[in-house]
Amino acid sequence: AASVERALDALRRGEPILVHDAADREGETDLVYPAGAVTPDAVARMRNDAGGLVCVALGDAVAAAFELPYLQDVLDHPAAADHELGYDDRSSFSLTVNHRDTYTGITDEDRALTITELAAAAADPQGTDFASEFRAPGHVHVLRAAPGLLADREGHTELAVALGEAADLPPAMVVCEMLDDDTGGALSPAAARSYADREGLVYVEGSAVIDRLG
Ligand code: 5RP
Ligand code: ZN
Ligand code: CA
Repeated sequence: AASVERALDALRRGEPILVHDAADREGETDLVYPAGAVTPDAVARMRNDAGGLVCVALGDAVAAAFELPYLQDVLDHPAAADHELGYDDRSSFSLTVNHRDTYTGITDEDRALTITELAAAAADPQGTDFASEFRAPGHVHVLRAAPGLLADREGHTELAVALGEAADLPPAMVVCEMLDDDTGGALSPAAARSYADREGLVYVEGSAVIDRLG
């Protein structure tokens, strides 16, 4: 679809896009950035305009190289024993991290540094000693994409990493849910589209991404 090509062009320029997964899944629209393009202003936009969790989705091979597990597999706590989700078989959450050059880790500058350093690490996994560069826990959520991407799972984690791959970017993509300030719920697709129009951003449906890249 033309919207997917426009989304790839925007990502190549370092611009954010909006990605709605599916009405019968989360029904959420995430603001998505290439991790390497994230500035402190972009983090401010995510917390002010999106409002969800700021996460970095990493490709499976990179996450494996850094020994980043699925969090559910390593939490030794009864709350993690049975992780029933209403919308998918499993969560993509891995560890939370901060770059070691951050102080508290939460400021716009600190999160932008952690995110851009994750992009640099993903671009050169062999040249990265992950534990010497990052500490856990931290203030940026790492997500681990399914090994087969969209063939295995159709979450924003996989949608974002598949779009990044198709745009020839490192497999490190930031996702943050758009919430509605009036209702507190997920921002509706119609409202997400009008935000995209207002801001000059590309909005893309998960189904279009799956048709083109799945
Ligand atoms: C983390 C999430 C988001 O929904 C994010 O989009 C990643 O999850 P998924 O791949 O399941 O869509 O819950 O804030
Ligand atoms: Zn999601
Ligand atoms: Ca979510």
